[in-house]
Amino acid sequence: MRKTTTIISSFAIHILLLISSIPFSSSQPNEKNSTTDLIDQICKKTPFYDLCSSILNSTPPTPKPDLKTVALVMVNNILSNATDTLNFIEALIKKTSDREMEQALAFCAESYIPVVKYTLPQAADAISQNRFGFAGYCVSDAVKEVNSCNKKFSGVLLSPLGDRNGIVQKLVDVASAIIKQLLKG
Ligand SMILES: *[C@@H]1O[C@H](CO)[C@@H](O)[C@H](O)[C@H]1NC(C)=O
Ligand SMILES: *[C@@H]1O[C@H](CO)[C@@H](O)[C@H](O)[C@H]1NC(C)=O
Repeated sequence: MRKTTTIISSFAIHILLLISSIPFSSSQPNEKNSTTDLIDQICKKTPFYDLCSSILNSTPPTPKPDLKTVALVMVNNILSNATDTLNFIEALIKKTSDREMEQALAFCAESYIPVVKYTLPQAADAISQNRFGFAGYCVSDAVKEVNSCNKKFSGVLLSPLGDRNGIVQKLVDVASAIIKQLLKG
């Protein structure tokens, strides 16, 4: 009986020691993972955590990124994604023989061209120059254009764009959430 009590209490002491050592080890800042931690914190405040962290972790901004650099990485990612979609649309226009499809795709190209040429590059410039309010405006303007392209395919016409518009919309939502954090900061 006495023996079991001793074993139990020594076990309890070990647990106590273990627990009390945890705050000490985690209070030491780790250089290696501070970037991951920052990306994690930023992405948790966006509507698509997985998308956000997969982009930011595969394109690590700089050794010591801040919110502004992260916002720029996101906007540039949308720009390359949207540029790719525009190229895809233009290639489809050349291939299609369906009149209605041709018109819908032409409408989409018209929507994407200003986004790729002006709106997103302006958003990136605005972020670099600390004009975060304007950056937010540009980014929400981009999503309006993408939405209007998407609407062309809501009827009988099956979208040949797959989920490309949807991806750009999600990327824009993530960028907007990051820009909102910049506006608060
Ligand atoms: C970063 O390092 C600290 C201290 O070692 C640790 O407590 C924390 O869990 C680590 N975070 C990540 C995301 O690995
Ligand atoms: C666009 O974004 C999606 C989702 O992150 C990704 O799978 C795709 O490869 C991207 N395309 C380009 C050209 O960046």
